[in-house]
Amino acid sequence: MKKIILTGDRPTGRLHLGHYVGSLKRRVELQNSGEYDKVFIMIADAQALTDNADNPEKIRQNIIEVALDYLSCGLDPAKSTIFIQSQIAELCELAFYYMNLVTVSRLQRNPTVKTEIQMRNFETSIPVGFFTYPISQASDITAFRATTVPAGDDQEPMVEQTREIVRKFNSVYGETLVEPEILLPENCVCQRLPGTDGKAKMSKSLGNCIYLSDTAEDVRKKVMSMYTDPGHIRIEDPGKIEGNTVFTYLDAFSRPEHFSEFLPDYASLDELKDHYRRGGLGDVKVKKFLNSILQQELEPIRTRRREFEQDIPGVYRMLKEGSDAAREVAASTLADVRRAMRINYFEDEELIASQAARFSR
Ligand code: TRP
Repeated sequence: MKKIILTGDRPTGRLHLGHYVGSLKRRVELQNSGEYDKVFIMIADAQALTDNADNPEKIRQNIIEVALDYLSCGLDPAKSTIFIQSQIAELCELAFYYMNLVTVSRLQRNPTVKTEIQMRNFETSIPVGFFTYPISQASDITAFRATTVPAGDDQEPMVEQTREIVRKFNSVYGETLVEPEILLPENCVCQRLPGTDGKAKMSKSLGNCIYLSDTAEDVRKKVMSMYTDPGHIRIEDPGKIEGNTVFTYLDAFSRPEHFSEFLPDYASLDELKDHYRRGGLGDVKVKKFLNSILQQELEPIRTRRREFEQDIPGVYRMLKEGSDAAREVAASTLADVRRAMRINYFEDEELIASQAARFSR
């Protein structure tokens, strides 16, 4: 069986370091690994509209931001099909049929939707489109016959829901759809990078993000004001590593060679942590080290972004070409689905002939 990737992001803002370590970096590696027959990367604008219905301009503005973030991280339209969800009408059609295979109570049990409903104060009136977005996400995944969905653990319930729909569909209508698997980040610190303020997650609304498109100076300022151990007041004081954001980021980003390059007094992250725990190591020194590492990682991304920013019409053209190509794939899956569901009346000459015979008797 072919190995096919589909994944995507809601275009509600620029992408940040959390997206980068949690999925973007991995996607580029998977794209370049040569192990996949096809890679589809989707800008999920229709899904973003399920909880931003009154703010379409925000979604519209952020499509290009997300596309630029993708390209600058190394997603390559020659290897990956990058497309915009709303341009693939077949996805809506597929979702409409899947709705018959899912119960309201099953949707109500989806843990990700539950937390999102709370976060958005939707408890008393949930938009139907938002409530059913796991079904729409199942269409996204299955329309491209994806075998593999690289995503964070928050997407596990969506992929599980998709698998259930696939099994149900195939058992009712015959073997048609492919059951996908989620591919989680390997490194567990990367699964959820905390915000610069130490809060559980980087989130635009909390203002605790380092964006891929931040300037070098922005990044430096954000690193220098990062949350550390509030009990570590003087340099001599012993410090805590657990919950210390600077060290969490070092867990996610530092590699052995960074020490010889930027901090030759220490041989490894363990040595640095030991010194911090003992006392005698100041936050500023650790932060400067982290800043050097992040700047080295982000500089090539910023440079590429500036290049792509010089050709915005070209980026839109790339998205249009990707969307056209994606639409063809989705349309071919839809043809299979219609056939399986017995709603392919006009292409079924046997049907027409047998009905003709029935009435000519
Ligand atoms: N739900 C994903 C998010 O919030 C975005 C998304 C939409 C997606 N469709 C998808 C991810 C299909 C993986 C596969 O980030």
